[in-house]
Amino acid sequence: MLQFAILSIMNIKTNIPFSELTTMKLGGPAKFLAEATTVQELVDLYRNAKRLGQRVLIIGGGSNLIVKDKGFDGLVIKNRIPGFSVIEDDGASQTIKIGAGEDWDSVVARSVDMGLSGIEALSAIPGVSGAAPIQNIGAYGQEIADTLVYVEAYDSQTDTLVKLSWEDCGFSYRHSIFRGSAQGRFAITAIVLKLYKKSPTPPFYAAIEKYFEELAITDYTLAAVRNAVITIRTNKLPDPVQHPNSGSFFKNIVVEKWQANAILEKYPDMPSYKMDGDHLKIPTGWLIETADLKGELLHGMRIHTGNALVLINESATSYADLAAARDEIISTVRDKFQVTIEQEPLEI
Ligand code: EPU
Repeated sequence: MLQFAILSIMNIKTNIPFSELTTMKLGGPAKFLAEATTVQELVDLYRNAKRLGQRVLIIGGGSNLIVKDKGFDGLVIKNRIPGFSVIEDDGASQTIKIGAGEDWDSVVARSVDMGLSGIEALSAIPGVSGAAPIQNIGAYGQEIADTLVYVEAYDSQTDTLVKLSWEDCGFSYRHSIFRGSAQGRFAITAIVLKLYKKSPTPPFYAAIEKYFEELAITDYTLAAVRNAVITIRTNKLPDPVQHPNSGSFFKNIVVEKWQANAILEKYPDMPSYKMDGDHLKIPTGWLIETADLKGELLHGMRIHTGNALVLINESATSYADLAAARDEIISTVRDKFQVTIEQEPLEI
């Protein structure tokens, strides 16, 4: 009885397939689904779920989420909390508070229009703003950890609203506490970024330099960088609306020098990037391509020809298909190069 009363008051839907909630268009059902448009709504939904003994999962645009065929046996809350306001201006920079449910690319567009630098290279990344710190989104030389000051969140463990500083977030390459030690604990309600009132200056990320050279662009504005990134991404990455995908399906890998050297001996042209001390980052797209998998169709999943890091759901009918394709790619790369690549999107 209590359950039905709460479900109808809070406008909760039941049994919604994750194929409708994720850009990969796969996955079993969400037992309950609700939307939160204010912090209070989000807190109320959490408290009611707890009262009913239900687990909670927060989602945004579903662009970095893979769900198994059994779905989620609990309450899924779609974060739609809005907001965009300047909370501090010190002359050289502005600090901006952004509601977690705001579309990320609209936030980038707005900051570029305002002449604020720091996230222009993160243009055209799908998803909502509150998801950006979870995987520490990064592209073309920027990552959100470079500009983030703090996040506001609901702490489901202590039932309080909290502020988590940059240090608290524990950022590293495509990682934070939100997908590590604190996974499932915090629901991010707002992110706060410090952006600078300045124009971008060279040197730019290689692909952007190339774009500027080809178009003979010498007026390096924020809008020019944003346009360059949008064009480069459009050419390399499939539109999730037309071709279901989750962006990079694999992370680039960080290996020890000796492991990279073993590959370089046989493939001296392999691109690699120096990390701290004895580590190098290797592009997984190169490994998959060199293992002759680019363009292949495995279990209904197409390895994208524009960038082999991306898997497109062409005709897969279940998570099991995706998992079979993923495992085949991982083991083919391991057999050829003796390194283990890892999935990038969160999986539940
Ligand atoms: N490469 C290949 N074959 C491929 C893909 C890449 O040989 O199929 C080589 C490229 O030639 C280049 C190197 O790998 O030498 C790096 O490629 P690229 O600059 O295209 O970037 P990436 O490492 O494949 C990462 C991010 C992207 C981000 C780009 C640009 C990850 C997992 N992916 O890709 O992020 O847009 O850099 O900065 O770090 C995403 O996360 O969804 C995403 C698209």
